[in-house]
Amino acid sequence: MTATPDLWHHYGRNRAANDPDVPAAFSWTRDQHTGPGVEALGDIAGAVVADLGAGPARHAAHLAVRHQPARVDAIDASPAQHAMACGLYGGLTPRLHLVHAGAVDHLRAHPDTYDVAYAVFGAPDFTDPRVLLPEAARALRPGGRLVFSTLAHYRGGSPAEIDVIPSSAPAKLPDGRAATLTRWVLRAYVWAKLLEAAGLADVTVEEFPAVGGGLGTLLVSASR
Ligand SMILES: C[S@@+](CC[C@H](N)C(=O)[O-])C[C@H]1O[C@@H](n2cnc3c(N)ncnc32)[C@H](O)[C@@H]1O
Repeated sequence: MTATPDLWHHYGRNRAANDPDVPAAFSWTRDQHTGPGVEALGDIAGAVVADLGAGPARHAAHLAVRHQPARVDAIDASPAQHAMACGLYGGLTPRLHLVHAGAVDHLRAHPDTYDVAYAVFGAPDFTDPRVLLPEAARALRPGGRLVFSTLAHYRGGSPAEIDVIPSSAPAKLPDGRAATLTRWVLRAYVWAKLLEAAGLADVTVEEFPAVGGGLGTLLVSASR
């Protein structure tokens, strides 16, 4: 059997080597200057929180160190990202729990568990939302919130999809060769319909435009 290559092997590697500190702030966008910060999650003191597609777990580490959650589960399917997170922030247990798993499987195994589930360009971007969002809804406690940032448009500026169809995005194999991965880049109203179909309510989608050649971002929020 051939193992699936890890398309996230290179992500965040330079920063991990040069800037291992727990970030001082929580940003939903890639330019770090626009949009709300941690307040978009609501008050997470004492809350059980999940980061879906945590990568090196910088956001989760920030929450664990600065915002007194009961626990943050930083979930990532990539062996390389999970290993990076363990190297950077493995010492932040028990408040930060680093989980090597696919988000769908993890959420399915943890119904009625989370007060807040969030993602920063994480699992909702790279997983069929018709599968992921219903599992996220079931994994929330009643009244719990799902919040995530995602692309408002394609990297080249083309508009997002008006239907639930995935696209191919460039990626790199661990040996540096080019590959592709599947990414969902959807309009705000498409996300809203998907969240409602998943059984979530109070759906809001805010758009933060691209700044200085950066990427336009949607901040999507809903509650159970
Ligand atoms: C663009 S990175 C973002 C990482 C992190 N949220 C950040 O802002 O630095 C996307 C991450 O999502 C993870 N991911 C994608 N789909 C996933 C899934 N279904 N379950 C768990 N992790 C997933 C990838 O392994 C990758 O680490």
